[in-house]
Amino acid sequence: MPISTLGSLISSLAKKKLDNQAEHWSRQAARYDELFLDPYGPDVVNPLWQALGAIPGAAQKTVADLGCGTGTLLPYLAERFESVIALDFAPGMLAYARQRLHGRALARVSFLERPMDELDDLAGKVDVAVAVNSLVMPDVRQIDRTLSSIRKSLRPDGFVLGVVPSIDAIYYHMMLLIDQSLDQGFPLAEAEKLAALHVERRHYDFACGRFQYEGLRQKFWLPFEVEYRLKKAGFTSPVLKKVLYPWDESLAGGQGLAAFPPSWDWFFLARA
Ligand SMILES: C[S@@+](CC[C@H](N)C(=O)[O-])C[C@H]1O[C@@H](n2cnc3c(N)ncnc32)[C@H](O)[C@@H]1O
Repeated sequence: MPISTLGSLISSLAKKKLDNQAEHWSRQAARYDELFLDPYGPDVVNPLWQALGAIPGAAQKTVADLGCGTGTLLPYLAERFESVIALDFAPGMLAYARQRLHGRALARVSFLERPMDELDDLAGKVDVAVAVNSLVMPDVRQIDRTLSSIRKSLRPDGFVLGVVPSIDAIYYHMMLLIDQSLDQGFPLAEAEKLAALHVERRHYDFACGRFQYEGLRQKFWLPFEVEYRLKKAGFTSPVLKKVLYPWDESLAGGQGLAAFPPSWDWFFLARA
């Protein structure tokens, strides 16, 4: 087979894989709130609010919500910014997102159904790119491509901010659960087994930072990798902070861990 044919076969297979992930995300849309940890909840300490609130002149700016999902953040963005781009590759997610907006807020939002690394037409037009739990492509090459596209979509004084799921928090959760069972007198093997069940350890590939559930494959992050990939894509001055989740019923066995410091995901902000 000629190399050019092989090349296009490989790229069409990569596209098929991506479409496949879009289908899996679409399928989760109806149960999204049940399945995913909510970074916008009232008891969650999320630096995203302060960062968005501090943007000067937002009423004259364009924000892109990349991987907007069911659109939880869109009403807030549509209220503050002049125009909002709501992008997601999963049509099922976008269908829910559209339903959240009405009247003037809806008029400010353009919906784009496409992968997040296809931003050429937006080059230099976006002031703020937001990606909350959506930089989760299981293939790191695609993450690098996406971050690079996001940077090119930004105006020179623009920035990207968002949240990525943390894999260090899964270790932390598991450690606390193991110690809790040991304190209750369980043998080590039993304590580890119980903790593994609670954190759904079988779904994680800890070495590569990946999570797999019903066909959905998601990247989970360590903080140094967030900084590394942002810089690799040409972003500067990266800032990382924890998004803190209370130990409640949304985290398995969480109510018994209330005495410990909370669990987290990683908030990030970086300049174009
Ligand atoms: C965990 S959800 C987060 C949704 C939303 N940002 C929120 O905070 O509620 C991840 C979203 O990213 C979208 N997504 C994942 N990979 C994507 C990609 N490569 N291109 C576009 N959207 C993507 C998924 O379809 C899904 O809607």
